[in-house]
Amino acid sequence: MIFNRRWFPLAGALALVLGLSACERPPVDSVQSGYRGTGMVQVYNPRTVVQQIPNNQPPESAPPAADAGPRARDIFKNVQVLGDLSVGAFTRHMAAITAWVSPAEGCAYCHNLAEMSDDSKYTKVVARRMLQMTQDINANWKTHVAGTGVTCYTCHRGLNVPAQIWTQAVPQDKRSDFIGNLNQSNAPAKSVAYASLPNDPFTSYLANKGLARTIKVGADTALPTGHVASLQATEGTYGLMMHMSDSLGVNCTYCHNTRNFGAWDESTPKRTTAWHGIRMVGGLNETYLDPLAPVFPAHRKGPMGDVAKVNCATCHQGAYKPLYGAAMAKDYPELLKTVAAVQAPPTVAAADPLRAVLYFDVGSPALKTDQAVELDRVVASLKQAPTTQAVISGYHSASGTLAQNQDLAKRRAFAVRDALSARGIEPARVVLEKPQQTEANLAGEDPSARRVEVTVK
Ligand code: HEC
Ligand code: HEC
Ligand code: HEC
Ligand code: HEC
Repeated sequence: MIFNRRWFPLAGALALVLGLSACERPPVDSVQSGYRGTGMVQVYNPRTVVQQIPNNQPPESAPPAADAGPRARDIFKNVQVLGDLSVGAFTRHMAAITAWVSPAEGCAYCHNLAEMSDDSKYTKVVARRMLQMTQDINANWKTHVAGTGVTCYTCHRGLNVPAQIWTQAVPQDKRSDFIGNLNQSNAPAKSVAYASLPNDPFTSYLANKGLARTIKVGADTALPTGHVASLQATEGTYGLMMHMSDSLGVNCTYCHNTRNFGAWDESTPKRTTAWHGIRMVGGLNETYLDPLAPVFPAHRKGPMGDVAKVNCATCHQGAYKPLYGAAMAKDYPELLKTVAAVQAPPTVAAADPLRAVLYFDVGSPALKTDQAVELDRVVASLKQAPTTQAVISGYHSASGTLAQNQDLAKRRAFAVRDALSARGIEPARVVLEKPQQTEANLAGEDPSARRVEVTVK
């Protein structure tokens, strides 16, 4: 008893130290990758590696199908990407993508089984675009994927939605506290390997190809002449680097000599592969994933209404090369072809600003049934152009007490907001403006004094 009481705090403290140190149990292996003394060494925990190997084995490829006979495009009705294949090879490909993406659901995951040519399921529309994306990666990003290439399995691994994806983080609501700008830090997340760094480096660096140029911390010049990254953005760069290291299961020294992170002449060739990878990922998100926003249902999108996108972990999943470099793609030559006709992504022209005006009865905040048509028009426009917002402004007359009038205008605006949200528009896309007083018309008879305007822009 006495023994317990005396040793308990000590044992507790020891457990705490061990727990907080995040140390891994020795022994670990180290592999030197640079000159001695430069610290360019990779540290592996052999037990983690042993666990990972079985998770990164590609499935067996089916034997190739004969290339004889009529082409798929001549036999089937709606084959746009894989039309050159023989019917046998086409069917083999359908069986393969079923195993890679929807083994539990089967063909019905993408197809209306009563009419295979119909495109009514969004998954089929997405899958066709994914076929083109995979071809694009293999044909045009050899600087990154080399001859190894990728298949749907590289990302999907038998799951409908790849295990590692990202969507835009919800911005901090700076009105709700006095903490100031958190810059997305101090919220430990897997995305940055639980470091207290901005946990969404993806929106800033991987959403499109052009953003890569801001991945920098050191200026080339003494004065801020053309240096693109702010001091604050530096944290984001480190956040991205944590993500890259974690996705590949490596240390910083896999790519850098930590004596000078920026210097290319002291970096390993892997950094060059990574440099192309960053641009590839931005390009894929920009060209293929984001433009699919109107196709994906709301429950697949992130809290900000954007489509789930690719980062380094989507393919790598903890391995320095996805599937430890297994070259699966060579067994599916149709995925190595240049994208024959990558149709321009289904660009949705940002519709002209649309304005709807809803009139209310005197003293009433209730929407009228005949306003449904007008609301549906607003909703259709919002859904068509996913980057737009609905700005709601309520107007009230100048007669009566100001406070009452403003309150009524506000309740009318809320009624419109609620009607939009009931039609599936996320709250983040609705902006409420302050109630405004209409000019003149003191009697309050003119119905235009009792209106709510919705502008989609
Ligand atoms: C992950 C989605 C997906 C799955 C699962 C899938 N398919 Fe397909 N299927 C497609 C796409 C996309 C096309 C159009 C390809 C193109 O445009 O080149 C297609 C086209 C077809 C067509 C041509 C239909 C026509 O007349 O135009 C047939 C037949 C077909 N698939 C059979 C199958 C069978 C059989 C299975 C199950 C073993 C299956 N598919 C599973 C996505 C899928
Ligand atoms: C570079 C990684 C990557 C590759 C390669 C890839 N996908 Fe995807 N796929 C994604 C991402 C990211 C999403 C979006 C996740 C979501 O559904 O929200 C997605 C979504 C899908 C969906 C929609 C799933 C759903 O339930 O919403 C289908 C179907 C699909 N992919 C099929 C394919 C097919 C078929 C291939 C191969 C021709 C393929 N993908 C190759 C990354 C990839
Ligand atoms: C897989 C390779 C890879 C790994 C691992 C990696 N980096 Fe990087 N790093 C790069 C590339 C590529 C760039 C240049 C990005 C660009 O220009 O698009 C870069 C840029 C940087 C920069 C900016 C240098 C400048 O020019 O201002 C810093 C700092 C940096 N990395 C730090 C780190 C740290 C710290 C780690 C470990 C947590 C790390 N990196 C891990 C590839 C890597
Ligand atoms: C579309 C899938 C895909 C994505 C996304 C992807 N990679 Fe890769 N990456 C590959 C493939 C495939 C290889 C293997 C190429 C080879 O065999 O040489 C590879 C190889 C690499 C290598 C070389 C490893 C070595 O030891 O030679 C580095 C470094 C790398 N990737 C970094 C990244 C970084 C950083 C990102 C995110 C910015 C990224 N990758 C995103 C598919 C991908």
